Amino acid sequence: MLSFIEREEQFLKGIIKSCGYEVEEVVLNSSARPEFGDYQYNGAMQIGKLYGQNPREVATKIVEKIKETNRYKDSNIAGPGFINITFSDDALINYMNELKENIDINYHNENPKTIYMDYGGANVAKALHVGHLRSANIGESLKRLARSMGHKTMADAHLGDYGRPIGLVMLEIQKRNPNLPYFDSNYEGEYPNISPVTNDDLMELYPFASNKAKEDESYMEEARLMTSRLQEGEKGLIALWNHIMNVSKKDIKRIYNRLNTTFEIWEGESDGSKYFDELFTYLKEKNLIEESDGAQIIHVKEEDDDHEIPPLLLIKSNGTASYESTDLACLWERMKLFNPDEIWYLADTRQSLHFEQVFRAAKKSAIVTSKTKLEYIPFGTMNGSDGKPFKTRDGGVMKLETLLDMTKEECEKKILPNITGEERDNIAEKVAIATVKYADLIPFRLTDYNFDPIKFSDMQGKTGPYLLYSTIRMKSLLQKAEEAGISYEKITKIKDKTDRDIMITSLSLRNVLLKSLNTKSLNDIAEYLYKITNTYNNFYAQNRILTEEDASLLTSWLTLTKIIFDNNLKLLNILGIEVPERM
Ligand code: ARG
Repeated sequence: MLSFIEREEQFLKGIIKSCGYEVEEVVLNSSARPEFGDYQYNGAMQIGKLYGQNPREVATKIVEKIKETNRYKDSNIAGPGFINITFSDDALINYMNELKENIDINYHNENPKTIYMDYGGANVAKALHVGHLRSANIGESLKRLARSMGHKTMADAHLGDYGRPIGLVMLEIQKRNPNLPYFDSNYEGEYPNISPVTNDDLMELYPFASNKAKEDESYMEEARLMTSRLQEGEKGLIALWNHIMNVSKKDIKRIYNRLNTTFEIWEGESDGSKYFDELFTYLKEKNLIEESDGAQIIHVKEEDDDHEIPPLLLIKSNGTASYESTDLACLWERMKLFNPDEIWYLADTRQSLHFEQVFRAAKKSAIVTSKTKLEYIPFGTMNGSDGKPFKTRDGGVMKLETLLDMTKEECEKKILPNITGEERDNIAEKVAIATVKYADLIPFRLTDYNFDPIKFSDMQGKTGPYLLYSTIRMKSLLQKAEEAGISYEKITKIKDKTDRDIMITSLSLRNVLLKSLNTKSLNDIAEYLYKITNTYNNFYAQNRILTEEDASLLTSWLTLTKIIFDNNLKLLNILGIEVPERM
């Protein structure tokens, strides 16, 4: 089933054809000048050019034909040939009732794809920092959007579990506890069941080791060696690594849970390593690997490059696998197991060269065939409220949890005073997540923004809490109607501009969804949510809904409220935002 606007576009296409013009596509846009109409068609100018006719005459011909059909309340021409259309109330009412029966009308998809998504990237044994926030928020929402539009998706947490950080942490554990059996290569016994480190230990160990390595090159070298011994599969180190993985993964999962971020697959960089042999043999057979200063590289330059693309480093001169090779090996696995139509990678803009190299090598070697599209989806930075990189008070990197807790504290102050105890805490958490997510998703994906917990948690304006508060109010109105025994089923009547505007705004949802999916940015959905909510609130302020005496208006308004409420829930869910019972 098509959305309202799509049907009108089809209809207009027929009209235009009957005027003797062939156009490929007819696009209706919501009106820039609402005083002239609800929607407008701007194609007459192009038709005029194509057929060598005056666009105003073309528009006149089309509008005459439109008028013959009596389909619209009004159609008229403005300027050089803009055609304005005002829909009839009946058409709007019918459509809203269809929407009530099937909220998914705007989500249809004739070309579903299988999409594999990579938006985790948390590093094992390191705290999640604010940089991981956008990847999780944008990635999760894109997954929910793609899925709601009929695509098949799966997401991989793709933990950073195979590189230098893990070597650093293991080295520091050894320095502090040299007698642990994990480091004794002659050890024959069973390794302990219990991890020698807790997550709190890890949070302290990594920054300590990382600072030490910066000052002490030989320490750094030892850490590199540790990583390479791990990659070679030294038994004791694998046992220790498994402990670290379990402890760290549990905490990472807990934080992703707070962010309503879910992964179907919990793999990491290391999971590609089981394919290293196959992969390297394959690449060798294709003659793609070259030796350079003891390292193994793949050239990925192309003839028409307008910027320098250095070769991809496959294996470092010390024998360890590079970040690039882990991504290539994971691609090998993903193609083998899932063969998706598209693979989406979310990582900040600084990783663009990395992905360019990996994608080129994957295509050049045909690890990924032309049928599968690889897409890198970069995003801008979230800074502190001063516009500088987000830091803790003592200058360290801000942990993601600190940011969430800080926001929660701010949100807690705004909740109704009669809500107490555990309920209060749960609501504060939901409001905080709504605050963080909405603020993160409303700027265009590539735009940097400054985080301001006070402004972002305001109950007024373009904020998560405003949307929650308004949506809860719709629900409580519906509850009150239920308590009063008022049943409602359909919209039968429109009173004035205040309820009609809600319907007109509803018509643009299909385009908003398509645009968001196309740009891979949630900003249009976030803006739309604000617009529809605001339009509804305006109606709510102008009318006394529950005491309305005209019975058909009363039931129409309740039905309208129910549609907008359900619709808001669905869109908020796409943004990863949960609505509390009250706040
Ligand atoms: N772990 C990486 C980081 O923290 C991000 C991983 C992005 N995904 C990938 N497949 N390389 O920077």
